[in-house]
Amino acid sequence: MPSHIHDRTTIYRVVCIPGDGIGVDITEAAVQVLNTLSKALGGFEFEFTTVDWSSKAYLERGWYMPPDGLEQLKKFDAIYFGAVGWPDVPDHISLWGLILPIRKALNQYVNVRPTRILPGTTSPLANCAQADLDWVIVRENSEGEYSGQGGISHEHSPHAIGTEVSIFTQVGIERIMRFAFETARSRPRKKLTMVTKSNAQRHGMVLWDKVFYEVAKEYGDVEIDKMLVDAMTVRMVLNPKSLDTIVATNLHADILSDLAAALSGSIGIAPSSNLDPTRKNPSMFEPIHGSAPDIAGKGIANPVGAFWSAAEMVRWLGEEKAADGLMKVVESVTAAGVKTKDLGGSENTKGVTEAVCREIEKQF
Ligand code: NAI
Ligand code: MG
Repeated sequence: MPSHIHDRTTIYRVVCIPGDGIGVDITEAAVQVLNTLSKALGGFEFEFTTVDWSSKAYLERGWYMPPDGLEQLKKFDAIYFGAVGWPDVPDHISLWGLILPIRKALNQYVNVRPTRILPGTTSPLANCAQADLDWVIVRENSEGEYSGQGGISHEHSPHAIGTEVSIFTQVGIERIMRFAFETARSRPRKKLTMVTKSNAQRHGMVLWDKVFYEVAKEYGDVEIDKMLVDAMTVRMVLNPKSLDTIVATNLHADILSDLAAALSGSIGIAPSSNLDPTRKNPSMFEPIHGSAPDIAGKGIANPVGAFWSAAEMVRWLGEEKAADGLMKVVESVTAAGVKTKDLGGSENTKGVTEAVCREIEKQF
């Protein structure tokens, strides 16, 4: 872990990519909370560098990342990401101009997406108690349906052909399965549900199933089951209690994690960690939501997903106690009813952020 010690204080160098829309608001909120946290706890500090790699900048200069952008990122201990995407730029240009190349080039092959119902909030599901929904979705983050292989032939003609090729490799599947089993093993219920669509997709997904059962042999203490993705949506809604850790492909887990966030109250609370488990490259932390153009500039974005992502970054950097402390604070703020509109509250981004900072100063 590349950290930098100065006067017995560990300095973590974090590069922030706020990006677009509410990505800017929530990154600012996360930085404020992280600075308050390090100041209150002592022993470590953050040195933030912010880069303007956004759609607005792209429209002005024609690129998201400079040519040496990925090399620049490698110099930091972690990356904090807001969101990318704006109506003036086609979404496949913005995603492939920024976030997807980072995940791939920095070997962030795991995307961890925990979901639970926070105190003081409710699930839109009737009769779903707080303890009934506590999941971790492990998303394959480097290949599968988002491999980027394919093309368009005979473009602009009635005979246009588009192909989108999914890639599943033994190495890619095995490493995500191992991570998922380790995650399941580390949680009290030791339960892993694997999701595919191997009835209709008969090659890559069948390989995915096969590798899952092979790796499962090494984890006799983990209870396993298998779901087809369509039936999985039903189970998540009707029997949330029956799930704990979930492993799924890039596309499936992307969709299921938005559903999971909505079922736990709002997409605005859900965090994600893009991890390079080998730790050879910095990992990247971001809420799962996008740039939300419909509420951008209004100052009402829920910053909880950004704080939870920040807590996961702090954990990955090795400050476990600080991470747990930050989450306890965030939960005490939601429990007190300080919430944005998407959670049924009446606060704005600034109000929630200041409440979290005040609580940090009070509790630590
Ligand atoms: P979105 O997540 O931005 O918004 C979906 C809905 O949830 C909107 O109604 C929005 O107002 C609401 N919402 C999202 N985050 C919220 C928060 N923190 N607080 C309160 N409400 C919140 O998804 P959408 O609309 O499909 O995408 C918008 C743009 O973001 C697109 O350009 C898309 O490509 C991009 N995007 C980028 C991602 C990333 O950077 N990792 C992830 C998802 C989408
Ligand atoms: Mg998504």
